[in-house]
Amino acid sequence: MIRTHVADLPAQVGSTVTIAGWVQALRLQRAMQFVVVRDHTGAVQVTHRRDSGPLESLLDSLTTESAVRITGVVKDNPVVSLGGLELFPETVVIENLAATPLPIDDRTGPEGRLDWRFLDVRRRPAARLVFEVQTTVERAMREFAYASGCTEMHTPKLMGTASESGSEVFSVGYFGGQAYLAQSPQFYKQMAIAGGVDRVFEIGPVFRAEPSFTSRHATEFTGVDVELAWISSVEDVMAFEERMLAHVLAAVAAAHGAEIEELFKVQVTVPTVPFPRLTMAEALSVAGSGSGGGRGDLDPAGERAVSARVQAETGHEFVFVTEYPASVRPFYHLRPDGQPQLTASFDLLWKGLEITTGAQREHRYDVLLSQAAEKGLAPEPMRSYLDCFRYGCPPHGGFGLGLGRLLMVLLGLDSIRDATFLFRGPNRLVP
Ligand code: 4AD
Ligand code: MG
Repeated sequence: MIRTHVADLPAQVGSTVTIAGWVQALRLQRAMQFVVVRDHTGAVQVTHRRDSGPLESLLDSLTTESAVRITGVVKDNPVVSLGGLELFPETVVIENLAATPLPIDDRTGPEGRLDWRFLDVRRRPAARLVFEVQTTVERAMREFAYASGCTEMHTPKLMGTASESGSEVFSVGYFGGQAYLAQSPQFYKQMAIAGGVDRVFEIGPVFRAEPSFTSRHATEFTGVDVELAWISSVEDVMAFEERMLAHVLAAVAAAHGAEIEELFKVQVTVPTVPFPRLTMAEALSVAGSGSGGGRGDLDPAGERAVSARVQAETGHEFVFVTEYPASVRPFYHLRPDGQPQLTASFDLLWKGLEITTGAQREHRYDVLLSQAAEKGLAPEPMRSYLDCFRYGCPPHGGFGLGLGRLLMVLLGLDSIRDATFLFRGPNRLVP
């Protein structure tokens, strides 16, 4: 039997169809049995008049969230509030009877929902829309990257030395020795640039051993990374990213704008390019001196203040903060000529949240070595990385964007937990 999606039932009035889904609600009355069946496209009422037959006892045995396949005739009925139609069953197959009581209900808190995430996702169309939107976001990113000459790479997530710095890295047993989980594709995407790949694009897992319990930190998340060779300045990197995001948000608005507004009460705005840009010095004067703990960086409150000001003055939801001090940036960020205290780097803030860090990289071996030494990093553990800069590495730069952060802001979610299928945090490794 061909399966008909619930959303397609209006076109099937008068026909016999088979639907497949879950029992969302049961109203077993004295004369009538009503079963609301939900699939991933919608919900429909199944109506049966008691007749002492086998169908009656089968329907009586149902429990909510049972997986069922029901064949019946679709009829118009304007009285039915759910879509103005109902299905009169002829056969009912219980594929999997749900145990009772269900472990979660509408009053279950966030941690309980994560414990039973498959039921949470199944029962809430908004939870599932997150992944539909994520799919559109990734597709649009790939479209843009491919059209812009990027090659999609897959860099290893197991590595012999910690990437970027020794902190925030998970170590794992490796045949009696030790390996580390990549906390960024940073070094490998630069290695691809040294390998002659002109523009690198990767979507992949990122691991951070940060004991952070905020709404925006996960210990495993999906990173979107771009690296561009032969750039003239970091401006080329920002120009790439803003155009990519404008393309992504146009695709999301077209595919899901109405549904996002209905389920999340958020309007998707397609941003104009260029995005506003503010140097860190300007950002600090907007955010107030207390905002960076005196380190020349922005704390989360400072980021919100900067975004709020830019939005009030320009109407723009995005802002690039540029020229971060070298003291708060990694050794591999390029420092502008004559300004060794600054970096040619940026963060992209969206509605007050950092979604991206990017930079032009230092591609001159000697300078890179001295910047590493200045940060107290020994060259030997990153020899294979440093060697990339000894045999003809072009100027290059790129960025890393957190997919969960982007979805969180896009949909107005309270936490990155809701932007991830199965969240990983310091206190959560299951399910
Ligand atoms: O800012 P981050 O740490 O920058 C890098 O990894 C650089 N290698 C990027 C580059 O190309 N220079 O991470 C990039 C982005 C952040 O802006 C944020 O969106 C996200 O990754 N991110 C996290 N998302 C969820 N949980 C965490 N713990 C995250 N840490 C960073
Ligand atoms: Mg960052």
